[in-house]
Amino acid sequence: MEAQANVTKPELIVDLAWSLIKMACTQRRHPFHTPTLSTLSERGPEARSVILRHADEENWELRANADYRSPKVNQLKGDPRSSWLFYSFPDHLQVRCYGHTQVHHQDEIADKAWRKSQLLSRRCYLAPIAPSLVISDLRPNLPPELVGREPTEEEAEPGFENFTVLRCRITEMDILSLRYEGNLRVCAKPRNTPIWIAP
Ligand SMILES: Cc1cc2nc3c(=O)[nH]c(=O)nc-3n(C[C@H](O)[C@H](O)[C@H](O)COP(=O)(O)O)c2cc1C
Repeated sequence: MEAQANVTKPELIVDLAWSLIKMACTQRRHPFHTPTLSTLSERGPEARSVILRHADEENWELRANADYRSPKVNQLKGDPRSSWLFYSFPDHLQVRCYGHTQVHHQDEIADKAWRKSQLLSRRCYLAPIAPSLVISDLRPNLPPELVGREPTEEEAEPGFENFTVLRCRITEMDILSLRYEGNLRVCAKPRNTPIWIAP
């Protein structure tokens, strides 16, 4: 469906949101490729960009990858409540996904995602200093022999220890479609008929 086509039912807006989300997993330049993932920390809400790696419309799931040592993983282990925010300027569409984001570490889901990842991406997980720690001098946070090149499969393997998949089970979606003829907004929940809400 075209983003600005005539809409008669909220289901069409939900279908549009899912089609863009699924497209964005593989299209690196798609505006939905880098959602904002928000979590809860002791100092309040924490938001950051992540790369959308996988989306499952059947099960209402979103996935991204992250370093096990990072604050976001710690926050999610403490409280999985989270939101994933998408906005596409060309489609005039905002999607807010609320749900519980579970951390997969050294399990089958993490293993599958690790095998699927590019060697250059795996290199990030070999960083000797854990994300967010203070560094004493300016230098790449990489093993010296891997600066400026991608690791071999074998060299990348120790990085698996730091690799996690963040898997969100969406409990609710709030979709806002900006339109000249009047904005539309939909609230959708898995296995429920979506409803219009005031934009
Ligand atoms: C475009 C973009 C994509 C990013 N993708 C990821 C990602 O997929 N996973 C990740 O852990 N961090 C990603 N980051 C870095 C995070 O936004 C963040 O700076 C970092 O992970 C530290 O977050 P934390 O301190 O809240 O754990 C990305 C940053 C940008 C700018």
